[in-house]
Amino acid sequence: MFGKNNVLKAFYKGLIRPMLFSFDPLIVHEKFAELGGFFGRHKLTKSFLKSLFHYKNPSLGQNLFGIDFENPVGLAAGFDYDGNLTGVLAEMGFGFGTVGTITNMAYEGNPGVQLKRLIKSRSILVNKGFKNIGAHAMAQKLSGVRFGRPIGISIGRTNTSLLKSEKDSISDILSAFRVFEEAAVNHSYYELNISCPNLIHADDNVSFYKQKSLENLLRNIDELKIKRPIFVKMPISEDDKTVLDLLYVILRYDVKAVIFGNLQRDRGNETFVREEVEACGRGNFSGIPCRERSNELISLAFRHFGKNLKIVGCGGILSPYDAYEKIRRGASLLQMITGMIFEGPQVISTVNKGIVEHLKKDGFKSIQEAIGVGF
Ligand SMILES: Cc1cc2nc3c(=O)[nH]c(=O)nc-3n(C[C@H](O)[C@H](O)[C@H](O)COP(=O)(O)O)c2cc1C
Repeated sequence: MFGKNNVLKAFYKGLIRPMLFSFDPLIVHEKFAELGGFFGRHKLTKSFLKSLFHYKNPSLGQNLFGIDFENPVGLAAGFDYDGNLTGVLAEMGFGFGTVGTITNMAYEGNPGVQLKRLIKSRSILVNKGFKNIGAHAMAQKLSGVRFGRPIGISIGRTNTSLLKSEKDSISDILSAFRVFEEAAVNHSYYELNISCPNLIHADDNVSFYKQKSLENLLRNIDELKIKRPIFVKMPISEDDKTVLDLLYVILRYDVKAVIFGNLQRDRGNETFVREEVEACGRGNFSGIPCRERSNELISLAFRHFGKNLKIVGCGGILSPYDAYEKIRRGASLLQMITGMIFEGPQVISTVNKGIVEHLKKDGFKSIQEAIGVGF
């Protein structure tokens, strides 16, 4: 298995990645999603992907919130914003995946450069601002589709100046939830994205980082009596006190997990290669510059709330060690995007396989035994 993955990695890094990286990342992303959609519609191509990338081990399985996760590694929100990849996630080795972020109204994406690679910093500049086809169109597209893995729908507020107040923003978010609740989509969970740093048209005065505002939002969502579990996608660029204040609010509502976290806003982060970050326009960053702060916040939340609040670790997972560190700090599930772009798609099974090796080395029989044991 490691042998096969090493060959795939060498092939990706030596041949595929230089070719892909010679094109605009937005075009590569769109073509990859189209190709993934095609592969997911045909048995033969699915079997081919499965033979290359799938890995299974019983020590990785968990049942959380009534959902079976074959392994803890999921596709984070933002990669499959158009809902094309649900048919290939299992074959690629993922344990689950999130579609979106989807908003009530469609949005064509922010003007200017939307994606840029920072190769030396192992990061992607993201400036899409919730480019998506809108909740109605997405619900229609996914209606009746049978997913091979638990799929989540990420919902955020529409990136538009039409929303003039907090009340407008909350109604907008509620409308998107209602669309998916009323549609015949077979999703397993929701992500509530309160932390997108790229909403250039949205009213800056509306912020769900204020306790009272988050309270208003969550109270209204609770009133929808949604049965599927809701995870909240958290910011990583706020200080510990702000994050803890938000977590105390979250615990009072029917939220099952928090995700640490979203993109890195801080251009002063020491993992950036200076000249790369200084050459960037508007946007915020994925990958290695997210890793340390994501880890700190996982530890912070686990220290304060233990197993009362499930944690999804996301940000800068490029290796099995990165993944296992998040588990030992307190994450039950993991999500990634950037690792796949820089290391290749085999990294998903490399990470899963590596977690199994780490568990064995530490004398644990299952992933549950390692969650929160400390790092
Ligand atoms: C191209 C791209 C688009 C993204 N779009 C979203 C999004 O729509 N919603 C969201 O919650 N996070 C979005 N993110 C953030 C990721 O979900 C994730 O939190 C972040 O990239 C850190 O994980 P990574 O280092 O594994 O990429 C996006 C990230 C990337 C790279």
